[in-house]
Amino acid sequence: MPARYKLAPSILSADFARLGDEVARVEKFADLLHVDAMDGHFVPPITIGPVVVKALRAITSLPLECHLMVTDPLGQTEQFAEAGASSVIAHLEAVPDPSAVIARARELGIGIGLSINPPTPLDVALPYLDQIDVLNVMTVNPGWAGQKFIREVLPKIRDARTEIDRRGLGIGIAVDGGIDLETGKEALDAGATILGAASAIFSRPDPAEAARALKELLNDREGRP
Ligand code: DX5
Ligand code: ZN
Repeated sequence: MPARYKLAPSILSADFARLGDEVARVEKFADLLHVDAMDGHFVPPITIGPVVVKALRAITSLPLECHLMVTDPLGQTEQFAEAGASSVIAHLEAVPDPSAVIARARELGIGIGLSINPPTPLDVALPYLDQIDVLNVMTVNPGWAGQKFIREVLPKIRDARTEIDRRGLGIGIAVDGGIDLETGKEALDAGATILGAASAIFSRPDPAEAARALKELLNDREGRP
């Protein structure tokens, strides 16, 4: 049975000059790789595009989850899918009606998630929960790795868990931003199932050990009712 609780190392804090080695270090503790694509419009930085996804696809068999912090996720989905993305995550702040991007991802045969920023209420995601694979709850404002976990988001995670369980949906709740062993535990307690983490893994002296410890936190939950 596939794991319910998953670790998604975000390569945003990896050393891009030796990306293959960085991925190899954490691979055995990772359930997927989280790839933060930023376009300089939706958020100020420009980061990773399909060429890097293609390079990653060639060196790992982990699913590649592409978090599209871009104003036009619909226009980008095909390029990311062709590069080897296993799934894309679109922001509801960019596409308040995500029906077209959901349909596009399904046509392309990849997974689809929706993301909401800290100030965005859960309500905007509710109509789409039964059409997606993952709800990505931002626990920092998007744009940069290494920011502080915003604790005020925890009630939103709890509300998402309540609603997803009420409807009997099997979708994941991912938390993204400021996740380490302590905040990861708080997010899991609130109902998250997928921990995204960049700096708590790749900015540590021993990324493999950091990933192992986070994965252990998740393994402890696996099998719990
Ligand atoms: C933020 C990105 C996150 C980021 C997390 O805009 O979406 O995925 O990589 O970085 P940390 O774990 O360092 O907060
Ligand atoms: Zn992200």
